[in-house]
Amino acid sequence: MKGVILAGGRGTRLDPLTRVTNKHLLPVYDRPMIYYPLQTLVEAGIEDVLIVTTPEHVGAFRRLLGTGRHLGVRELQYACQEHEGGIADALLCAEEFVGNDRMCVILGDNLIEGTIRNSVDEFEKQATGARVLLKVVPDPEHFGVAQLEDGRIVDIVEKPSQPATCLAVIGIYFYDNDVFEICTTVAPSERGELEITDVNNAYLQRGALTHDVVDGWWTDAGTIENLYRAHRLVAEGVSELAPILRYCA
Ligand code: DAU
Repeated sequence: MKGVILAGGRGTRLDPLTRVTNKHLLPVYDRPMIYYPLQTLVEAGIEDVLIVTTPEHVGAFRRLLGTGRHLGVRELQYACQEHEGGIADALLCAEEFVGNDRMCVILGDNLIEGTIRNSVDEFEKQATGARVLLKVVPDPEHFGVAQLEDGRIVDIVEKPSQPATCLAVIGIYFYDNDVFEICTTVAPSERGELEITDVNNAYLQRGALTHDVVDGWWTDAGTIENLYRAHRLVAEGVSELAPILRYCA
């Protein structure tokens, strides 16, 4: 399975922090944001990774991460998304890299406390289709929101003003190779972007969308509040573990 990290976009919700750099190069506690999704993939055994970013900032990613070997990556490649066409548009830049394989896609500003290993294993067993991860959140109106019936997703709505549930679809997705064809069929949304929620709903229409609910904390770091939250969650996790790690060493 290949790993794809989407790290394009303009990061306007973090302006002026993102005026001269890319959101995913900003620090979260003791390392640049991009390290976290990379570590999530490597920890789950996904070692061939593509980072999709903007032409303007790809050089900085290369200088920071290089071959990625020091972070446990076997093969690290880079691709550029020419315009901010949305998440599904960024994913199209991964078609050549993924080839005939399947993939785990992570939005570069998504951080999780736990592992995705179980979902990787379950997706390996799934013959076709897609798998999304859900998390109960207090502010679902800011995310893709899933509606469930009898334990199965029946609808996903992107940033609904009146969310039907508190289940956010987080930015970690598993897809089979059909995703590239699906990405070319979705129409731009009102904000002029190819939405990943439309891609996930296309899998839903085919009866090929499964899900897991994530344990532990999850946050994106795309707003000042959430970036601060990410710093705090990572720092608290580190300080809670530090005495145990010292004891075990
Ligand atoms: O964080 C989870 C949420 O992410 C999901 O619940 C939503 O369904 C999904 O649409 C997305 O919502 P956001 O509005 O938070 O996405 P944002 O525009 O912040 O983009 C998230 C990441 O995707 C960003 O860190 C980089 C990448 N991206 C985004 C765009 C628009 C690209 O690589 N290229 C792009 O053109």
